Amino acid sequence: MNKYLSGNFAPVREEVTLTDLKVTGSIPKHLDGRYVRIGPNPVDDVDPMHYHWFIGDGMVHGIRIRDGKAEWYRNRWVRSDDVADSLGEARRGGRKISALDASANTNIVEVNGRTFALVEAGAPQFELSDELESIGYCDFDGTLDGAYTAHPHRDAATGEMHAVSYYFGWGNKVRYTVLDKDAHISKFVDVPVTGAPMVHDFALTKDYVVMYDLPVTLDVGQLAPTAPKLVQSLLGRILGKYAIPEPILARAARGAASSKAMPYSWDSDYPARVGVLPRTGTAKDVRWFDVDPCYVFHTMNAFQQGDDIVLDVVRHPSMFTSDRTGPNSNRDGESALYRWTVDSEAGKVREELVDGQAQEFPRFDERLQGDQYRFGYSVGFSSDSDDSLSTTSIIRNDLKERRSETRSLGARNASEFVFVPDSDDAPEERGVLMGYIYDPDRNLSDLEILDAQTLETVATIHLPVRVPYGFHGNWLPTTA
Ligand SMILES: [Fe+2]
Repeated sequence: MNKYLSGNFAPVREEVTLTDLKVTGSIPKHLDGRYVRIGPNPVDDVDPMHYHWFIGDGMVHGIRIRDGKAEWYRNRWVRSDDVADSLGEARRGGRKISALDASANTNIVEVNGRTFALVEAGAPQFELSDELESIGYCDFDGTLDGAYTAHPHRDAATGEMHAVSYYFGWGNKVRYTVLDKDAHISKFVDVPVTGAPMVHDFALTKDYVVMYDLPVTLDVGQLAPTAPKLVQSLLGRILGKYAIPEPILARAARGAASSKAMPYSWDSDYPARVGVLPRTGTAKDVRWFDVDPCYVFHTMNAFQQGDDIVLDVVRHPSMFTSDRTGPNSNRDGESALYRWTVDSEAGKVREELVDGQAQEFPRFDERLQGDQYRFGYSVGFSSDSDDSLSTTSIIRNDLKERRSETRSLGARNASEFVFVPDSDDAPEERGVLMGYIYDPDRNLSDLEILDAQTLETVATIHLPVRVPYGFHGNWLPTTA
């Protein structure tokens, strides 16, 4: 059985538009915008032997909130060509930025009043309407040349989105980009890395970009499972070292794409290190620092402290060692929140455990991106459950006092929770957290809004449908 196709991981089969949503509690009146969250939801039946959770077609789930009311809920597939074909619809158009065709499924952001569904590893981005309908493939008006990322970080002072992207077709390099306030790429810097790592996220401070070169790397056996051994061997020798022509990549990628297999896995021979690039620097300026072998999907936040750079990360002891369907803490070890201090004078990284509770999806008050901050929020996993995927709590980490508070959800399960400040100038801890919660007893989901200080429920928007577990969500305030 593939657990990423069962329970609340199972895809929903219908798109719905619902109004007159039932609310208990009181939605704060100042909230005016959309909470949108995206995740995998395969449109066609998939092979449970090979399906990996990270590869499913994207579906976005959004709720429009205004004047203390929940005006609508919508769920919509992201219309890649394959999804449009499966639904019997016209293709949407737009330029694909690589040979890969996939439905963006990992994050959803707003830039310059436009809504973008994001994905990594060379798959194409997609633009959506305010009502979450697919507009078309997105290359940021012709300014994106190749892969982007699902984890750009917005510089709160300038509004620019900074990102580190990867794509195995590039050979052994990753790319730092800046997306300006008009949603156009205004700068890029290519940085050599060891091979072809999976680079899901990075860290941004006021003056530095910190990139991860960690031992989850391209797995040719998964990328081209049906290719003859000789071709696999040849690909293995050149991928991660040299850029590959797109037509060859397209053929190689087809096998993994059609089976929804994950072409990255743990490589115990690969080094683990972080690279520090000055935001104004070039590839020659990058300094690399070794860390103990591990994998980091997500940075909570990062900041400078004197000459040191402090990174708060959710660290996994390993990842994708043997399970080809998704993260598996029984095999790879449990995650925990760590603080990495990059000591440039000593030339090393100091590692401290901040919170040993198994957790993921770290968020914080993003007005403080790259600044000293005090509070972070994560989703906690049940440690006494056989099911290592059971997300049964919301954790509030006080990084100044080095303590955490945990709100248990009982039998219910959480997806990512995002922090929304009470106002533009509210103090750091004043705001709400919002995210989808699944109730297995009712087989239905709610959008829960919590007081960020107390973790108590402020309001619950009840949905008469289920929202499958997904990846990332954001509060997109109304801009016009
Ligand atoms: Fe992520």
